Amino acid sequence: MSDWNKSSWRLKPIVQNPTYPDPEALNKVEDTLSKYPPLVFAGEARDLKKKLADATEGKAFLLQGGDCAESFAEFNADNIRDFFKVMLQMSVILTFAGGCPVVKVGRIAGQFAKPRSSDTETQGDVTLPSYRGDIINSIEFTEEARVPDPYRMLRAYNQSAATQNLLRAFARGGYADLHEVHKWNMGFVREGAVGERYRDLADRITQALQFMEACGITSQNSPQIRETVLYSSHEALLLNYEEALTRRDSLTGKWYDCSAHMLWIGDRTRQIDGAHVEFLRGIDNPIGVKAGPSITPDELLKLIDILNPTNEPGRLNVIVRMGADKVKEGLPPLLRAVKREGKKVLWSCDPMHGNTIKTSNNYKTRVFDNVLEEVKNFFAIHKAEGTYAGGIHLEMTGKEVTECIGGSERLTEEDLSDRYHTHCDPRLNANQALELAFLIADTLKEARGNV
Ligand code: PEP
Ligand code: CO
Repeated sequence: MSDWNKSSWRLKPIVQNPTYPDPEALNKVEDTLSKYPPLVFAGEARDLKKKLADATEGKAFLLQGGDCAESFAEFNADNIRDFFKVMLQMSVILTFAGGCPVVKVGRIAGQFAKPRSSDTETQGDVTLPSYRGDIINSIEFTEEARVPDPYRMLRAYNQSAATQNLLRAFARGGYADLHEVHKWNMGFVREGAVGERYRDLADRITQALQFMEACGITSQNSPQIRETVLYSSHEALLLNYEEALTRRDSLTGKWYDCSAHMLWIGDRTRQIDGAHVEFLRGIDNPIGVKAGPSITPDELLKLIDILNPTNEPGRLNVIVRMGADKVKEGLPPLLRAVKREGKKVLWSCDPMHGNTIKTSNNYKTRVFDNVLEEVKNFFAIHKAEGTYAGGIHLEMTGKEVTECIGGSERLTEEDLSDRYHTHCDPRLNANQALELAFLIADTLKEARGNV
């Protein structure tokens, strides 16, 4: 890895980075963090890479999802549990109905820093610096709250550690046992059409488990029935934080960013000569790069060469986020260029970020039908091009929020004000997320020829 070290990003041009008014305090925090324990282990990141290699080769499917932005205010056990539940539900829908192994990756335990389209925010006649995520400043609309505070990194680290800890406990401690498949269905989901469809699927899984048990395959002798793995991921945006958690693995001598299993580069920070690409190229974790409508095939190939020079499968996930219509024009040239050059890339679909609109009552929202449309188009294009649609990347929550319009509950613009809790972009609620999972399962099943 020529000329790379964990600080080499500091010599490159950087965008979307906060300016801390007190550099001494920043140094102190970086120093403290660099001595704290890693949040994940290199071996786990390597396991994830292997599973993502399977997804690259068409043998598995990546389910990645979670909040747009985690926050200090919404940090509690119920939120983590409900998110975990909806991930498990989506995962069994995709595995059972879609007939495909699922790799689960949360946007969680570190998803705090946000890129913004504008450096400032204006309310009435007051203009202040933008909110950049709880790891940097506070969402409150006051001058004081918007000043970047490095000590927030320590709080984000602690929250991430506690979140990761609870997720590991849920994954290994019996909560994820397939015998509990009915109990993952939450009260507010149970009543509607999606809840009913889920119940039907859960019944069939329960029957299959009874059959297997009769054959001698039980939770006691088969850990796959009893346990699961949920990996963590976030956008590697605040490089001061990422550098401080980057460690050399004693087994392989390679560098890993131990703030999460997987990290990705956002659509706004993927400049070829920029700091974010420089940092990510040197760590050995599986990584992602977002590809928005402005990316050209040439640019993507350059990024692939820099980020995955050895063409290792599972290393690089291209997360396409173009918008329901734009994906039809934008994606085929990318797929063709990557195929022509023989590059091994895991393609996943983020149907959220290209479909954000502002309502007349001033809410940022997404129309569920547009989200569905982008997913359908993504799958259809892959089918036409003979490539594999290997994953989905969603902003979602286990809570009954009202942030995206439509879905089986037919949420309207007027409903948005009821439970609009996001700190950044609008998320699918549990109902909408499950509805989408059923659609993807149907498509996967068809694509895999199991109809
Ligand atoms: C995000 O994933 O929350 C995000 C900001 O995405 P993008 O970089 O694709 O805009
Ligand atoms: Co977002």
